[in-house]
Amino acid sequence: MDFKIAVMPGDGIGPEVVAQGVAVLQAVGKASGHAFELSYHDVGGISIDRHGTALRDEDLDAVAEADAILFGSVGGPKWDDPTAPTRPEDGLLALRKRLGLFANLRPVKVFPALVDASVLKPSVLHGVDVLVVRELTGGIYYGRPRGRKQTKRGWSAVDTMRYSEAEIRRVLQVGFESARERRKHLCSVDKANVLETSRLWRRIATEMAEEYPDVTLEHMLVDTCAMQLVQRPTRFDVIVAENTFGDILTDEAAVLSASMGLLPSASLAGVPVAGATTMGMYEPIHGSAPDIAGKGIANPIATVLSVALMLRYSLGLSEEGAMIEAAVETVLQEGHRTPDLATENDTALGTEDMGARILDALS
Ligand code: NAD
Ligand code: IPM
Ligand code: MN
Repeated sequence: MDFKIAVMPGDGIGPEVVAQGVAVLQAVGKASGHAFELSYHDVGGISIDRHGTALRDEDLDAVAEADAILFGSVGGPKWDDPTAPTRPEDGLLALRKRLGLFANLRPVKVFPALVDASVLKPSVLHGVDVLVVRELTGGIYYGRPRGRKQTKRGWSAVDTMRYSEAEIRRVLQVGFESARERRKHLCSVDKANVLETSRLWRRIATEMAEEYPDVTLEHMLVDTCAMQLVQRPTRFDVIVAENTFGDILTDEAAVLSASMGLLPSASLAGVPVAGATTMGMYEPIHGSAPDIAGKGIANPIATVLSVALMLRYSLGLSEEGAMIEAAVETVLQEGHRTPDLATENDTALGTEDMGARILDALS
């Protein structure tokens, strides 16, 4: 089959890690006889510098035509002026919204080879396998009114957390369906003791649970969840949460797997049921990592694993996706480490060398 893949490397370490993701994609294409036609598009700070906007309409239109998008990361100190009219992150947020990518799947696994690389105790980490389903196109990221204004008593700013029933229902459906295909436990995270949006969320989750008698639904307050996630992470199977909660909980979850450089994500425009494919954008959960950008030491594994998710969720190539995951596991078992994972006894590899090891393991 021929597939159209839009590639948006972005800023900072984005282009460095995306290059390794693309190399892995091309190797899979060669081995499996599928053709991946790549097109490259600016997004984020680089797009602001070149075109004056974080995402041009023509790039949005072009990537919307693709079967899937591989995205690196956006942002950096160069564009961090709080008074700037536009920010790199606006490009990412526009992509998610305009492409209707409402469900962000963030699998969190602890590789057996890395239980000692985390700052947490190995006894807590053995067997961790959680899927976080983060709502991605609603909530406080997009709610109106929003803005800043000067008043007689000084500056004032507002953001609005808003959710419709339909928005809540579709992401919860992804949560329930995912749990059904896994260990049949869904933890719905909210702040229903305080927020109206959360009370609506909880009510809908409870209603929907009747359609999924095979799935055990649990409600958990987000602050408790943040604690449980590091105290007893193996208790979780699927976690479903609104946009901001899911964002924060997954950076925390990266500590379980040992590094931000390991966690991939899939942002989907539909509910992935029983192997059906849907348009999606694939990106590591980490950012542009300005502190290490340009040094060639970023861990490309999160991006490589995002390519595996792309093969599974958008291209219907689950076996090829599993091959990539197995190759990553092999490389880690062989002891190869980028600096974010290395202990004093390891010789750390750079981004390209890690990519090359993964390609070796694939072949
Ligand atoms: P970050 O995720 O970029 O970095 C956090 C820490 O993790 C840093 O110490 C960094 O070196 C490390 N890290 C991240 N990815 C790594 C990798 N692949 N290998 C090794 N180490 C890695 O978060 P930040 O520093 O808070 O944000 C930097 C910029 O990135 C900000 O402008 C932010 O808005 C943006 N951001 C973008 C995205 C995205 O594009 N999806 C996601 C998060 C943050
Ligand atoms: C992420 C990032 C983004 C988010 C930022 C860069 C807008 O943190 O993808 O997790 O908050 O969604
Ligand atoms: Mn984030």
